[in-house]
Amino acid sequence: MAVGKYTLFLLLPLLLQFDYGESDLQLNYYSESCPRAEEIIKAEVGKLYQTKYNTAISWIRNLFHDCVVKSCDASLLLDHAKGVESEKASSRSFGMRNFKHINTIKDAIEKECPMTVSCADIVALSARDGAAMLGGPHIEMKTGRKDSKESYAAQVESSIPNHNDTISNVLSTFKAIGIDTEGTVALLGAHSVGRVHCINIVHRLYPTVDPTIDPDYVDYLKRRCPSPEPNPKAVEYVRNDLATPFVLDNMYYKNILSHRGLLIIDQELVSDPITYPFVTRMAADNEYFHEQFSRALLILSENNPLTGDQGEIRKDCRHVNK
Ligand code: HEM
Ligand SMILES: *[C@@H]1O[C@H](CO)[C@@H](O)[C@H](O)[C@H]1NC(C)=O
Repeated sequence: MAVGKYTLFLLLPLLLQFDYGESDLQLNYYSESCPRAEEIIKAEVGKLYQTKYNTAISWIRNLFHDCVVKSCDASLLLDHAKGVESEKASSRSFGMRNFKHINTIKDAIEKECPMTVSCADIVALSARDGAAMLGGPHIEMKTGRKDSKESYAAQVESSIPNHNDTISNVLSTFKAIGIDTEGTVALLGAHSVGRVHCINIVHRLYPTVDPTIDPDYVDYLKRRCPSPEPNPKAVEYVRNDLATPFVLDNMYYKNILSHRGLLIIDQELVSDPITYPFVTRMAADNEYFHEQFSRALLILSENNPLTGDQGEIRKDCRHVNK
């Protein structure tokens, strides 16, 4: 029928566009080029976790810092070099650790499938495997990201919120990459694991104590952070969650509801009427927290990736290819 043919004609560009879809992210992107890629990454993340729990924590923070700045492209992992200013050196990256262990994961992958699996996918998959190992949800994640050829150090401060940013700024930062209020509240639940250095806390203790902090907790914090001006080189820190410091659970929400949040942004989730209802719901229901965390982490992990011919597959995650 003439109408049918005409419709097909109109659809043709659309169908061709779908063909392009091959270069987008997909489940099991490496199923033919490196079938054991995801298995190897998981095994390496697991081995590292056995010897050093906090590596798994680092992989979760890495995903946030890599994906929020421009795209999930492993730009975070680049070292200083001629023409490259490392994102890792930004004040926003303060406290980030375990970068050298990424090389262990990458080396294991290179041994099996040279120049095939991107550092950006290692950032994404290690975060989801790390989250699962820490008792968080298991997240099915697409792959096929390519690595950037440059660092975006100059954009880090404007892209990643500061510890004392306002809730409305934080919500709009996440909204800009497609994450709603509920998802943002869930992502901050990553602060259920890991630590905060005193330098990010002391301004709430000295010279006057922030009245929103539980007084019993203030005593504890002051013991951990005895000086108003901590030496940035000293490793003085407080664990995010004293009860279950290595479990990605909803304890974070219970803590902030009892005024035991460490960062201003953590405590603001409780004081702001827009975020508060989600906090109470997550505090009451770990499964709901995990569902929302998975959903939001997936969106974060798919922010603006380089795919197809864009970017490259770095041989060494610390440097662009020669
Ligand atoms: C408003 C947004 C956020 C702000 C302002 C923020 C800020 C911070 C700060 C200041 C620290 C402590 C650094 C230190 O003193 O060592 C930290 C730690 C951490 N953040 Fe966030 N963060 C935010 C969102 C996120 C998100 C979305 C994730 C991941 C999904 C995340 C994961 C982590 C983890 C895992 C740690 C602990 C790291 C470790 O112990 O090595 N954060 N964050
Ligand atoms: C936020 O903290 C930084 C130090 O990390 C400080 O320089 C800045 O003045 C603080 N901003 C506000 C609004 O308190």
